[in-house]
Amino acid sequence: MMDWTDRHCRFFHRLITRRAWLYTEMVTTGALLHGDVARHLDHDPFEHPLALQIGGSEPADLAKAAQLGQRWGYQEINLNCGCPSERVQRGAFGACLMAEPTLVAEGVKAMCDSVDLPISVKHRIGLDRDEGTDMLTDFVGQVHEAGCRLFIVHARNAWLQGLSPKQNREVPPLRYGVVHQLKKDFPNARFVLNGGLQNLADIERHAADLDGGMVGRSAYHNPWILSRWDDWLIQRENTGMASVQGEGSSMAGTAILDRDAVELSMVEYMTDPKRSAGAHWYSIARHILGLRHGMPGARLWRQVWSDHRLKHLDARQVHLLAQQALHRHGNPSHAF
Ligand SMILES: Cc1cc2nc3c(=O)[nH]c(=O)nc-3n(C[C@H](O)[C@H](O)[C@H](O)COP(=O)(O)O)c2cc1C
Repeated sequence: MMDWTDRHCRFFHRLITRRAWLYTEMVTTGALLHGDVARHLDHDPFEHPLALQIGGSEPADLAKAAQLGQRWGYQEINLNCGCPSERVQRGAFGACLMAEPTLVAEGVKAMCDSVDLPISVKHRIGLDRDEGTDMLTDFVGQVHEAGCRLFIVHARNAWLQGLSPKQNREVPPLRYGVVHQLKKDFPNARFVLNGGLQNLADIERHAADLDGGMVGRSAYHNPWILSRWDDWLIQRENTGMASVQGEGSSMAGTAILDRDAVELSMVEYMTDPKRSAGAHWYSIARHILGLRHGMPGARLWRQVWSDHRLKHLDARQVHLLAQQALHRHGNPSHAF
């Protein structure tokens, strides 16, 4: 998610779940081919398994961008066909590509031919107010034929005119049934459901028929929901219900199942310039503000970590202040 799932956010989420697949913000082919590659692609291997999401439409550029992603150690390349923003439409990629299935298929084939990584596509279920599914079925059919085996489907149409990106995540109705039908139509492809899923229980509701769930906003605002995922994923793997994608991921070890320990690990990260790529603690801390979501003292704790007047302090000092704010409420620190 743009501006949200940067490398710091992903490091933080990886402390809480070792097995969930993480995705980068969308990076355009233009930024990768003509910009500062290291700034866009450098990351900590601890974040693995990690997919690089690319925005673009020219097959040759997509192939080059995918090669860069492979060289920089990502485990999957994902093509964005779901972003409805006007800026992205002007660049003729994102959601408007759903009307160009042949071009997307060419792009997917070019990427498949030039890297060994799995290529996935994230898309919507339709464009504007057309609730028919012919276009969608044709899109998935052509893209599947070209080599894409994993589809991440935001189960809403994208309205290309008249809605802001934010409204486009809320106003077009969710229609999960359309994604279930896709799975029936293309049983050899994997379909991950996205849109409005709040927690594991929501994913479980679809788990018997679909291949997974992608959680965006809820995971960002309430990251502790991720703490239950590894056990669930392991259980599903053991019963043959799920396989974890890709190779070469760093799933060794277990996630930290204690919020205080996660916070402390983030303080260590903030105070290690090599690990945090020299970022100021303040720009890292914005991602952890949801860690104590719904707990007593969370508001005061959050206020400390987001207080720009404390920017001159060391992260360890801010951590102490945040802990004091939290415990002023007599909060049991190990509450789940
Ligand atoms: C701030 C923000 C930035 C986003 N950026 C991207 C993006 O770069 N690529 C993408 O595929 N989706 C992006 N999305 C959409 C989410 O990935 C997701 O599809 C959408 O929010 C619906 O899922 P949710 O209800 O679980 O949040 C973004 C969403 C938000 C809130």
